[in-house]
Amino acid sequence: MPTKPETRADAPALVDVRDLSVHFELRGGTLARLFGRDTGTIKAVDGVDLRLRPGEVVGLVGESGSGKSTLGRALLGLVPATSGSIHLRDQNLAEMSRRQLRAIRRVVQMVFQDPNAALNPSMTIEEAVGDALRVHGMKSATERRAGVVQALERVGLSPVELFLNKYPRDLSGGQKQRVVLARAIVLNPTLLVADEPVSMLDMSVRAKILQLMLDLKHDLELTYVYITHDLATAKYFCDRVAIMYLGRIVEIGPTEEIFAQPRHPYTKALLAAIPEPDPDKMVPRDLPRGEIPDAAQPPLGCAFHPRCPEAVSGCGWESRDLRTLVEEHWLRADAAYDEERRVIGDLDHLDTPSTTATLGVGGSAQVRAILDRMRTEDVDEPLWSGVTAVEDSGSGVTVHFEPAPPPPLRRAGGVEVACVLYPDEGRPDA
Ligand SMILES: Nc1ncnc2c1ncn2[C@@H]1O[C@H](COP(=O)(O)OP(=O)(O)OP(=O)(O)O)[C@@H](O)[C@H]1O
Ligand SMILES: [Mg+2]
Repeated sequence: MPTKPETRADAPALVDVRDLSVHFELRGGTLARLFGRDTGTIKAVDGVDLRLRPGEVVGLVGESGSGKSTLGRALLGLVPATSGSIHLRDQNLAEMSRRQLRAIRRVVQMVFQDPNAALNPSMTIEEAVGDALRVHGMKSATERRAGVVQALERVGLSPVELFLNKYPRDLSGGQKQRVVLARAIVLNPTLLVADEPVSMLDMSVRAKILQLMLDLKHDLELTYVYITHDLATAKYFCDRVAIMYLGRIVEIGPTEEIFAQPRHPYTKALLAAIPEPDPDKMVPRDLPRGEIPDAAQPPLGCAFHPRCPEAVSGCGWESRDLRTLVEEHWLRADAAYDEERRVIGDLDHLDTPSTTATLGVGGSAQVRAILDRMRTEDVDEPLWSGVTAVEDSGSGVTVHFEPAPPPPLRRAGGVEVACVLYPDEGRPDA
């Protein structure tokens, strides 16, 4: 068994992502309708820093829509960076010509969740794996066959003769994903971005495919980005884990430390939600306080603050939070709903994110009285500590909140975490 290549902390980065943003503009077209809005910007990836050392496995973990796949695709140049940079060794992806990008796609390979979608049903296994070699200029059929045979053997599809002339439909899900892996490694890549590579497979074969991937990594000196919802497999598979939320990395560090001592409240919530008997369905549907927010209009400050059980005054409270609170208040049976509703009036304008919120039509004193009632109902509500002033404004009031930028990643112990609860311990240059 070849030994594992060292992943030294001081090794030069294989991939160096700096302040990367990938934004999608929605302009009233089909796409916008698909996403249920007319215009706007989805910040799929927003200010991400990430360095991969040769030979390591870095997991990107987070709920649906957190930007994992977009970040993965950006590493192959499949989506352009809106700003920031991606360097592969010393080459800047953003400055590459089409031809250079094609060459990059030989050294950076991507494996997707669904082997059925990845494999052409009318190609034999030999054609599917050999095609990559042909596309990248290997003319000799004999050489191609030798490459295909070697790749199939490496992924455990042997005796190879049994598989060369088969079609995808003749194979099991696990075998198909092995073919996909064979096709990925046949070009001798250095980096493999695996986007949920086992989540569509039966539980019984997942561990086998992940073990195969680790073996391939050791044998071929690969570096992996492993994208998953599933913290249980990330724990087993990754050297480091990056927890993503709405386009940002909120915590990153060695897998062991992240699992032993999660710091970001979002990481804690994810870990607490790993269901014991079925590590399959991992990401929680019922984090405190509701759903993942709209990615086109993320919460101000820390994007997690509206759902955060540990939120404090400086998290970036805003108009939409106040709306939520008023509506929650009205759900309580003892609220003088009709009268309050008349005093407060319409709340829709609070949906435009702002650190000031003007509300009320029935008199400033009456509005203040309602806000006071709400506050005494729930004195622990952290939004109130984020209020810096309440001014009279026409027949209502204007509530001012403490403005807060999204917290940057900062050192805490052996990890980096983006949360106001963790003051700076000094950020390393690396
Ligand atoms: N081509 C696109 N055009 C517009 N928006 C997009 C596009 N691709 C992704 N998005 C949006 O960007 C955000 C991040 O999407 P992405 O697919 O990267 O998330 P993800 O973490 O991979 O989610 P999942 O776990 O569901 O695969 C989402 O809000 C998504 O709707
Ligand atoms: Mg995805």
